[in-house]
Amino acid sequence: MGARATDKAAQPDRALARHQTPIISHVHAQGESRMTPSTPFSLDGRTALITGSTKGIGRAIAAAFAAAGARVWLHGRDQEAGERLAGELGARFVAADLAEADGPSALAQQVLEAEDRLDILVNNAGTATIQPLERLNLPEIDRTWQLNLRAPVQLTSALLPLLREAAHVGKDASVINISSIHETVPAPGNVPYAMTKAALAMYTKGAAVEWGRFGVRVNTLAPGAVKTNMMDEYNIGEEHFAKVARRTPLGRMGEVTDITGPALFLASAASCYVTGTTVTADGGSSLNLVRYGDEWVLPGTGEAPSQPVAVDDIAGND
Ligand SMILES: NC(=O)c1ccc[n+]([C@@H]2O[C@H](COP(=O)([O-])OP(=O)(O)OC[C@H]3O[C@@H](n4cnc5c(N)ncnc54)[C@H](OP(=O)(O)O)[C@@H]3O)[C@@H](O)[C@H]2O)c1
Repeated sequence: MGARATDKAAQPDRALARHQTPIISHVHAQGESRMTPSTPFSLDGRTALITGSTKGIGRAIAAAFAAAGARVWLHGRDQEAGERLAGELGARFVAADLAEADGPSALAQQVLEAEDRLDILVNNAGTATIQPLERLNLPEIDRTWQLNLRAPVQLTSALLPLLREAAHVGKDASVINISSIHETVPAPGNVPYAMTKAALAMYTKGAAVEWGRFGVRVNTLAPGAVKTNMMDEYNIGEEHFAKVARRTPLGRMGEVTDITGPALFLASAASCYVTGTTVTADGGSSLNLVRYGDEWVLPGTGEAPSQPVAVDDIAGND
């Protein structure tokens, strides 16, 4: 399936109208809990869409959700990889370029046409833009904002009718926005990226406030540095991984599987009273993001930089 070029979100169509649900129809009776005590982490009977799930963190989350019983929609641009993975997981795959302005509505349209409800949406597709502020590349910044911020906002609103329908049938719907520890702390060279994640965190809180009444929970999951394709793209290698491990209380870089447990928590009934917050999965590294001279070091160790680090040395970025 490929992305279509029309902006359907701008012109709601019959597929959208079909999914309109009455406001507050799902709200719990007082004291009622939606958590099933014996299987709080089960996703049996749930339908989940994970954007950017052909690789990296998104792929690991999709596999974990499928293993927990969810019916999974995979998404990415790489049709071949997506369909291969869909075969392995018994999932469906949809292609759309979310860096294009009409990508989110094209993706939403395909899901709206195929599903009556959506229980879980993970806005994971994202890119890390590394550029010092004195060398602004505005087209690249625009692309980062489109993919990291505008796309999740647009996609979530377009799929809200399906999310509300899921809540309507008795279980909260869950939106998980994959952010970064840089939603609160910038690093040299990654300010355009950090700004998108900070805005995504505020979007999360705002959407949680507005959509709690629909039974739609919205949370942010903020990983620290995780070994993925994103690191390869910027040639971030073993030297950087060792630095991250040194300033991480748990003593190592993250693996994609370190992010799947928190994602499962936020997706499932285990987090039925959690909305509008950030769950950080970083081995504690954000506690140690303290600059010392031109280097990132563990605070209080007196570990001085061996040599000055230029701003476009991307060490310290996650
Ligand atoms: N890795 C880290 O250290 C780290 C740390 C904190 C937060 N994060 C966040 O975690 C998320 C995933 O990162 P990752 O490291 O797993 O990245 P990754 O390995 O590079 O995977 C990115 C995924 O997004 C898809 N994607 C990329 N550009 C896209 C576009 N324009 N349109 C549609 N899909 C697109 C890719 O699929 P196709 O190639 O098929 O399009 C791929 O499935 C991002 O939001 C990132 O900011 C990562």
